[in-house]
Amino acid sequence: MAELRAVRAERQPLFASVGAALRREIASGRFAESDVLPGERELSQLLSVSRTTLRRAIAALVEDGVLVHRHGAGTFVRRSPPHVEQPLSRLTSFTEDMRLRGLTASSRVIERGAFLPTPDESMMLDMALSETVFRLSRLRLADSVPMAIERAAVPMRFLGAPEAVGSSLYAALEACGCRPVRAVQRLRAVVVGAAEAALLEITEGAPALDIHRVAYLADGRRVEFTRSTYRSDTYDFVAELTLPTAQRMRAAEAIR
Ligand code: GLP
Repeated sequence: MAELRAVRAERQPLFASVGAALRREIASGRFAESDVLPGERELSQLLSVSRTTLRRAIAALVEDGVLVHRHGAGTFVRRSPPHVEQPLSRLTSFTEDMRLRGLTASSRVIERGAFLPTPDESMMLDMALSETVFRLSRLRLADSVPMAIERAAVPMRFLGAPEAVGSSLYAALEACGCRPVRAVQRLRAVVVGAAEAALLEITEGAPALDIHRVAYLADGRRVEFTRSTYRSDTYDFVAELTLPTAQRMRAAEAIR
């Protein structure tokens, strides 16, 4: 590896110069996106700085979202996340949404199985506390970049068995003849805590979108209750707004 230098600017702390040198190298493509950084010892030798200074510089770059720590795997150059425009009027699944955009959806399962419902799930899904609920919590990724954490709950009676669910919950519901046809969604802004930030590879305290969806079958029964946390830097939710029909007709007549 060619020599890498931290040029110290006047009155700039050394760790900031080291950070600037690393940023320049990342921008130049020396460390490709999603590449793991060389080890501390190698980098501190290349930059001729102590490991303590290097650690401070790296911590600042993690804070700024340029680098990301992955537990047990090392420090990586953060990939730029795909940007998705999501219409709020379409009842589609994550897998379908990503496919439509030419991205590959994948998931990391956090929790999955048959459980007794929590009081919240029982209320939202209109089910008895003694019934079984299928719970599926996943980190959802697009082209391997974390996009959202989704915690879905579905009354087991609609699925038959937990094994019915493969990579797509909606595909499984469709196969069981229980694909939702309508949903009510509530969105609000939140800041992410440490655990969610680590999964989503964003900084703790960063803004995110908290989305609750209750989905219904054609006969009005509730089939899904999902709480999701979406990264706010990857999603724009787009809503179409229209006037009530009578007003719309009047407006259409007025322009004739
Ligand atoms: C979207 C919705 C979730 C739903 C999920 C199903 O992301 N926000 O409420 O559970 O799609 O996705 P898939 O069929 O890919 O598992």
